[in-house]
Amino acid sequence: MLWTGKYSPKNFDEVLGNVKIKDAIVEWTEEWLMGNTQNCLLLIGPAGTGKTTLAHLAANEFSEYIELNASDKRSYDIILNTIGEASASKSLFGDGLKLIILDEVDGIHGTEDRGGTRAISKIIKEGHHPLIMMANDPYSKRLKSLKTKCNTLILRKVHTNSIVALLKRICVKEGVEFEEHVIRNLAKSSNGDLRSAINDLEVIARGKTKITSEDLELLSKKDDIINIFDSVRTVLKSKNPRRIKDAMKVEAEPSFLIELIAENIPREYEKVDELQKAYEMISLADIYLGRAFNTRVYSYWKYTYELMSLGVALSKEETYRKFSRFTNSSIFAMLSKSRAKRDLKDKVAKKMGEKLHTSKKVVKEQFPYMEIMFQNDETAYELATYYGLADDEVKLFRSRKIKVKKSKTKKSVPKDSKPDSFNGFRSKSATKKSDSPAKKTEKSLNEENKVLKSENKKKDKKRNNKKLSDTKSSVKSEDKEKKSDKNGKDNSQTSLFNF
Ligand SMILES: Nc1ncnc2c1ncn2[C@@H]1O[C@H](COP(=O)(O)OP(=O)(O)OP(=O)(O)O)[C@@H](O)[C@H]1O
Ligand SMILES: [Mg+2]
Repeated sequence: MLWTGKYSPKNFDEVLGNVKIKDAIVEWTEEWLMGNTQNCLLLIGPAGTGKTTLAHLAANEFSEYIELNASDKRSYDIILNTIGEASASKSLFGDGLKLIILDEVDGIHGTEDRGGTRAISKIIKEGHHPLIMMANDPYSKRLKSLKTKCNTLILRKVHTNSIVALLKRICVKEGVEFEEHVIRNLAKSSNGDLRSAINDLEVIARGKTKITSEDLELLSKKDDIINIFDSVRTVLKSKNPRRIKDAMKVEAEPSFLIELIAENIPREYEKVDELQKAYEMISLADIYLGRAFNTRVYSYWKYTYELMSLGVALSKEETYRKFSRFTNSSIFAMLSKSRAKRDLKDKVAKKMGEKLHTSKKVVKEQFPYMEIMFQNDETAYELATYYGLADDEVKLFRSRKIKVKKSKTKKSVPKDSKPDSFNGFRSKSATKKSDSPAKKTEKSLNEENKVLKSENKKKDKKRNNKKLSDTKSSVKSEDKEKKSDKNGKDNSQTSLFNF
C-alpha cells in the first residue's frame, strides 16, 4: 500500500490545515444527518491539500456514497439514475441519504457535457441529495455558475511546518532515521502539496533505516525536467560541478537559458571580478551558440552549455549565503513591448526600399537622417508623398503632424502642376508656339541687325541686304510653317478636349 493511502487521515482531527473548512464540512454533514437539507458544497483548492480526503471522511458518515468524475460523461447517467433511486428509497424509508461526490468539476467541457451540467443543476435544484464537488482551479469559467448555487469553500496550501511534522511522524512509524534538514527540504519543495511530500519521502526512505542529503540529490535526479529557475539558481548558487551539470539537464532552448543566467548574474554575484568573469563566460557561450547555428555543427552546443553553467558558476570565489530573487529575462519583455514599433519600422523600410531599390536594412540605416529631413514641413510633405507614407508612418520620423498650408499647396501643387501638365498635354502645339524656331531666329536676327548697323554702317549693304532677304525668306518659310501649324494647333486643341 502506498504511504499516501497508509497515512491518509482516518478522521477529521487528523486532517492538517484548513481548520475552518474542516469545521464547515463537519457541520454540513451533521445538518444533513439531522434531516436538514443543505446547499451542495464546492471544495476548491490546490492538489494534495485534502479535498478528496475530506469528502471521503464526510462519506463515512452517510449510509452510502457514490464517487464520480465530472470529466467522465457516463457519470451523468449514473447521477440521474441515482437521483431516481435515491428519491424513491427516500420516500419509502425516510433515511438512506446517498452522498454524491463529484470530482474535477472544472473539467466539465462546455457544450459536449451540457447533459452533465444539466444533471448537476437538477440535483442542486431538487436539493434532496447531499452533493460535494471538487475542483482545482478557482478561476475556471466553468465554475462560475456553479459557485452561485453552492457553498464554495476555498482550501489553502498546507503550511510547511505541518508537513514537516507529518513526515517526521511517518519516519518514526516506519523506523527511518532522518536528518532534520532533509525533511525540511522535502516539505519545502512539495510547495504545500501533501501528496507529493509523502510520495517523495517514500521514494527515498522506503526499505531504509536512514535518510541523508545524498538521498535528496538522488531525488532531484528523479525528474529530468527540472524547473528552469532551479537550474539558474543552481548555476549561480553552487560551485559543485556535478550538481551544476545535473541542473543543466533541463528542457529549454540554450539561447533562453543564456538569457536567464545573464539576467540573474548581478542579482547573486557582488564582486566586480566575478561579474566580469561570469559575463566573459556568457559571451563565449553566446559565440559558440552562434557558431552552432551558423555552421549547423550542433556539437558546439556542449561548449555553450559548459561555459554558461560551469563557466559562470566557477567565476565566483565562494558561494553567497543570501536570498536572491531571480527573475525572468527582461529581453523578452522588451522585445514584446517594442514589437509594434519594430513592425512599423519594417513597414516603412519596405515602402522606402521599393522606391529606392535597396534592402530594408540599408534603408533603416538612413532613418536617423530621415528624422532630420522630416523636420522641415515642406520636405516632410514631399518625402511622405513620394514614399507614400501614411500619417502614422510619418510619426516614425517626426512627432508633429505635417502642416500643409492651403494657399501654398494651391500654389505649389495644383497651380504649378496644372500649367505644367497643360504644357504637357498641349505638347506639340503649345511648345511650338512659345519656342518656335521661327520666332527665335526673327528676334535674334533683329538684334543682330541693330548691332551691325550701329557698329559698321559702312559695311557691305549688299551682303546685309542679302542676309536680310535670306532671313526674310526664312521667316516667310517659317510663317508658312506657322500657317500649316494652325491646322495642327486646332487638331491639338481638339485633342486637348478629348483628353
Ligand atoms: N490536509 C491533509 N492532511 C493530511 N494528509 C493529507 C492532507 N491532504 C492530503 N493528504 C495526503 O495526501 C493524499 C492525497 O490527498 P487528496 O487526494 O485528499 O488531495 P486532493 O486535494 O484531493 O488532491 P487533488 O486535487 O489532486 O485530487 C491523502 O491520501 C493524504 O495521504
Ligand atoms: Mg482529489
